[in-house]
Amino acid sequence: MASKLITIVGITGNQGASVADAFLHEAGWKIRGISRDPSKESSKVWSNKGVEMVAADLDDAESIKTAFKGSNAIFGVTDFWQQIRVPANQAKAKETGQPINVVAFDAEIQQGKNIVDAAEATKDTLDTLVLSVLTDSPKWSHGKITWNYHFEGKWKIVEYLEKSYPALYKKTSLFQPAFFMTNLESQMAPHKVSDDEYIISFPLDGNKQVPMYHPRHDTGPLVKALVKSSPGKNLMGYSSLISFEEIAEIWSKNLGKSVKYQRSTVDVMDKIMPGGVGKELGEMMEYISSPGYFGGEEAVKELGLIEPKDVGVSDLTEVRDFLKGRTL
Ligand SMILES: NC(=O)c1ccc[n+]([C@@H]2O[C@H](COP(=O)([O-])OP(=O)(O)OC[C@H]3O[C@@H](n4cnc5c(N)ncnc54)[C@H](OP(=O)(O)O)[C@@H]3O)[C@@H](O)[C@H]2O)c1
Repeated sequence: MASKLITIVGITGNQGASVADAFLHEAGWKIRGISRDPSKESSKVWSNKGVEMVAADLDDAESIKTAFKGSNAIFGVTDFWQQIRVPANQAKAKETGQPINVVAFDAEIQQGKNIVDAAEATKDTLDTLVLSVLTDSPKWSHGKITWNYHFEGKWKIVEYLEKSYPALYKKTSLFQPAFFMTNLESQMAPHKVSDDEYIISFPLDGNKQVPMYHPRHDTGPLVKALVKSSPGKNLMGYSSLISFEEIAEIWSKNLGKSVKYQRSTVDVMDKIMPGGVGKELGEMMEYISSPGYFGGEEAVKELGLIEPKDVGVSDLTEVRDFLKGRTL
């Protein structure tokens, strides 16, 4: 039987690497990985395992079309945060007076469109496109959240796909990665205020159950399940629900110190991280608080969002296990 080919965008990053792990020993499949630099160490990890690594850049539409040629399945992901750091985008923001978030938003959407256009150009061989996206936060918050550009932009890519290529849209499943639990040991770890006291403080409702997952371990099984089932699915990619009050309790036990959760405000986040990033993260946390990470009940109903168990996946990373015994 001839092998099927899955082409993975972002194979040197969290989500793409997890997808590659899931297909590496899958009978009947071979993998092509895309990187801007196939000679760097994180690319060589994959070529040493027999993955075909090709050079392509999401900003270069033709390179993506060439890289997708002959694919039976494609995993597409875009990286908003990198767009914030790109010097040309910083320069554009300065020149035009636009916030960097808006420049990054436009750039992420264009990269997503390049993925979608290249997938359309692969239609003769393509069975399934899986896109990593997030929900339309202005819509589901009824206009309240307007600065959560990294969610909104990813949904704009879906709208472009649906409008431009209805046949390709029918071959597509959407993967919505939950909140990365790995954030809890890095940017969102407890902050020391004295020898015995720590706080965790964000503009997020401390009692809200937040959907989380481990991007490096859990993306692969979920995306593989989507590739192997019929398209048209919109999957909430989460493995656990937990509140920040509960997270603070776990850290208290782990550290043997007092760890308190305190809700802060978007303005405070904006002051801590000025220039747009703090406001972006703050509004994202307001959105997670209400209506919810995946857009709340209304979005779940209207978009027909499904759970991991609906595609037969249950053995994912439990956030309490991830945090167990962890120290700073
Ligand atoms: N943090 C969270 O809680 C969370 C939750 C849900 C969704 N997200 C979203 O996850 C996305 C990032 O995904 P990730 O964490 O899997 O990625 P990541 O680990 O940050 O790695 C980024 C990947 O994107 C590739 N890439 C970046 N720019 C590229 C370009 N111009 N052309 C080709 N490839 C490019 C990189 O490949 P090379 O460098 O090898 O070219 C790399 O493999 C963000 O958009 C973020 O909004 C984050």
